[in-house]
Amino acid sequence: MAHDDNSGKEVAAPVSSAADKYEGPSTGTAVIASDAFTDPGFPPHRERMTDLDPKADKRAERQVFTLFYLSIAGSIFAIASYIGFPIESGATGDLRLSTLTLGVGIALALLGLGLGAVHWSKALMMNEEGIDERHPIRGTEATRDRAVEIFKQANEESGIGRRTVIRNTLIGALVAFPLPAVVLFRGLGPMNVNPVESLSSTMWKKGMRLTLDPSGLPVKAADVTLGSAFHIIPEGINDFHDKLERKAKAAVLLMRLDPKDLNPSPGREGWAYDGIVAYSKICTHVGCPVALYEQQTHHLLCPCHQSTFDVENECKVVFGPAARALPQLPITVDSDGYLVAQSDFNEPVGPSFWERS
Ligand code: FES
Repeated sequence: MAHDDNSGKEVAAPVSSAADKYEGPSTGTAVIASDAFTDPGFPPHRERMTDLDPKADKRAERQVFTLFYLSIAGSIFAIASYIGFPIESGATGDLRLSTLTLGVGIALALLGLGLGAVHWSKALMMNEEGIDERHPIRGTEATRDRAVEIFKQANEESGIGRRTVIRNTLIGALVAFPLPAVVLFRGLGPMNVNPVESLSSTMWKKGMRLTLDPSGLPVKAADVTLGSAFHIIPEGINDFHDKLERKAKAAVLLMRLDPKDLNPSPGREGWAYDGIVAYSKICTHVGCPVALYEQQTHHLLCPCHQSTFDVENECKVVFGPAARALPQLPITVDSDGYLVAQSDFNEPVGPSFWERS
């Protein structure tokens, strides 16, 4: 407490005087950062070789345009290889050659462009350090008013607000403009094939044998032991030139469980054979191969985004982003004991598509 000379009463001393003098950490609850440091500023400027030596400058310039030439050559090579190594034959060797040469061309084009740009900026572009102070993102009132004024003036001069038919048809034209590109995407699909039909069915049909992937050897029910899993393709698929496209839809996983563990819904009791079940290997999320079988839990796992399917319960989704169960291939055995399909899958395989019913 301090003494007031005029009134003779004691009054509280001004707190600020003590606090102002105190320079150490706060004794109250405030936390004061003790590791503050002063802005060290820029390190000393270092000249580059290209700043000091005109020959080095010329050399760097040559290197940069050589890299850009390399990029141009890569692009031309990619186009030439696309034309020169067509993949229409469907032969794996042609496909490999085309992919390899295309990849080399595009890689050279990108690499030349990237390295050239980096080298240019590091060796030849202006080499000065500068500071750009942060400023508020919102413009000043004057700038904002001016922007509104410009919009109003543009509206006035173009007449877009007044001439509504022109405005609306312009919007229509802009909306319609990208549509041809969307329609042209159709050209990426297979020729002379109805894509909806093609996506809705696979090559499996009644009586077709289940064969091992990739050998194509038929599988006997007796060979599928309890707990085992096989990768399966349809009989004869290796004879087709488009076997990869066919396999992308028709691939199957075959597993044998104790029949007591299976819980088929009404109407599906006869789709398995003595505990052997066959499900599409194509994930219903975005179509990766569901390749991991967890023998203890009877779960199938898709390695792409971890969708998990329960084999005991018709491969319903128990985890992950997939929205639908894996389609089941109804199977039985033929007179020789080989596993055969009863029909195609019970529904389209793989991810959803627009017209999927
Ligand atoms: S593709 Fe299988 S989880 Fe995404």
